[in-house]
Amino acid sequence: MPAFSVTSPGKIILFGEHAVVYGEPAIATPVFPTQAKAIVSARIQGKPGEIWIEAPDISLSTSIDQLEKNHPLRSAIQIVIGDKDLDQVPSCNIQVISEIPPSSGMGSSAAISISIIRAFSAFLGNRLNDEQVSNFAYEVEKIHHGTPSGIDNTVISYQKPVYYRKGNPFEFLEIAKEFYILIAYSGMPGNTREAVEGVRERWQKEPDRYNQIFSRIGEISQEAKVIIETGNPDHLGSLMNENHELLQEIGVSTPELDQLVFEARNAGALGAKLSGGGLGGHIIALVKSNIDFISGELEKKGAISTLITPVTNRNSNR
Ligand code: MEV
Repeated sequence: MPAFSVTSPGKIILFGEHAVVYGEPAIATPVFPTQAKAIVSARIQGKPGEIWIEAPDISLSTSIDQLEKNHPLRSAIQIVIGDKDLDQVPSCNIQVISEIPPSSGMGSSAAISISIIRAFSAFLGNRLNDEQVSNFAYEVEKIHHGTPSGIDNTVISYQKPVYYRKGNPFEFLEIAKEFYILIAYSGMPGNTREAVEGVRERWQKEPDRYNQIFSRIGEISQEAKVIIETGNPDHLGSLMNENHELLQEIGVSTPELDQLVFEARNAGALGAKLSGGGLGGHIIALVKSNIDFISGELEKKGAISTLITPVTNRNSNR
């Protein structure tokens, strides 16, 4: 039996994180320079039906029966088995390798689930389409994050820039003119679940103020969509800056993220903001020239790594 190997990209949210949980639109794009991979192969000497999972990044090597029932890796496997309604699964090894920094807001959990779901279902003889993969991954995301909007599993399953509004059909974005985003990782792990729960608690205390902020963030995503689709990406910078201020107001930034945002703008980025759940993780900056200089400045001023990614319709793994 051949081995089935699948890689999935990371992701960044360009506009609209958190507000998207409350029904506002958001924009996200895959990040191909960083990926998560799952390799599924037959386990020749395994016990019948045994599924062995190896994830060297987290020093895990175990039969999935030994993992807690709602462990995200086990859930990703279980959801595929449930779909096939099999009495006995062929014994196999699943190897998971990820270079996407965990808890960085770059979709590491969704990218791992999606790689496992695709590779394991192909191993069982069932190639899922993007929509099926995204729906399964959404179920796993709920275990990780509680009340996810669904944007992470969507952008990573379809591997294209998306304009996403919970409960509505999402749209692929037409990128009229490609542009570049610099991603700087703060080295402080974020916690999306905690960030989303914290925002919910504060929203419950001050619903009017928070609804106003979410609604302005939603408008920013709409304005950004027009700018992206009409080919004026330089104009996104000021929207990124405003989006960052609104994220500060809802309490998901940190002094370290604010510092990196400030340094990026100071070094010549056209705009910058935190991206993803916040409370750690990464910032993104719109860059056009002097990219190496801006990366260098960010690394001098606290970023532990930087990455450049194009936002384009051309980019694809498949
Ligand atoms: C996480 O990548 C983005 C958040 O908006 C949460 C979500 O959409 O599920 C913070």
